[in-house]
Amino acid sequence: MVRKTLIAGNWKMNCLTQEGTQLAKEIAAKVKAEKFDCEFLICPPFTLLATIKKCLRGTKIALGAQDVHFAEKGAHTGDISPLMLTDLGCKYTIIGHSERRVDHQESNELINQKAVAAHKAGLNTVICIGETLEERENGRTIQVCQNEIFGSVPDDATAKNTVIAYEPIWAIGTGKTPTVADVQEVHSAVRKALAKKLGKSTADKMRILYGGSVKPSNAKELLALPDVDGALIGGASLKADDFIAIAQNAPK
Ligand code: 13P
Repeated sequence: MVRKTLIAGNWKMNCLTQEGTQLAKEIAAKVKAEKFDCEFLICPPFTLLATIKKCLRGTKIALGAQDVHFAEKGAHTGDISPLMLTDLGCKYTIIGHSERRVDHQESNELINQKAVAAHKAGLNTVICIGETLEERENGRTIQVCQNEIFGSVPDDATAKNTVIAYEPIWAIGTGKTPTVADVQEVHSAVRKALAKKLGKSTADKMRILYGGSVKPSNAKELLALPDVDGALIGGASLKADDFIAIAQNAPK
């Protein structure tokens, strides 16, 4: 089965217009200048989606958002609907990032609802899961991740409309990463949970990204793991050279 590597950048709450434009243009130029086997995705903040879309014109880099509301429209002050994102040219949205699960108390049920709404509007989702340090230290990593898969991934998920991102919370922005053996163990367990929920054929085709302190120096060993199908990159996606260097380490 072929799972095309996805190299995704989550810019989080970073970049004003000038900085974001420059970063996207640099990445676009580098992606155009070289032959890559992988797919690319950039998820800037909502405020820059329209601007960055223009910078990515003529490239194969997809545009994504970092969150979405589950309602089609209406009285939801400050929220953004799935159709608003497709209207801006988004192909993807991240859902259930730990920074939203923790900072905004987002539950598996809410994330599931958001995913259903996004898929209905034609958006692909990157659904994030991952354990806290305490959960890891208590040996609960696999159980936590499998529970998040069962709760957050909707029944309508397919290998086309859904990508999973395993991001251990303690590895985000810390420079720490699990061992490659630990990453492979979790990804394989996540795929088993997906098989139980969606069937083996879908699970075998669904991409599972690793996220958490991915950088050029550790990208090769992480991306080479059998159940790692790409990376969701925070800090290193804000430097064009680093983002591209990670992609250059994708398996051919
Ligand atoms: P860092 O790459 O900065 O650790 O962030 C990972 C992340 O949270 C991507 O969604």
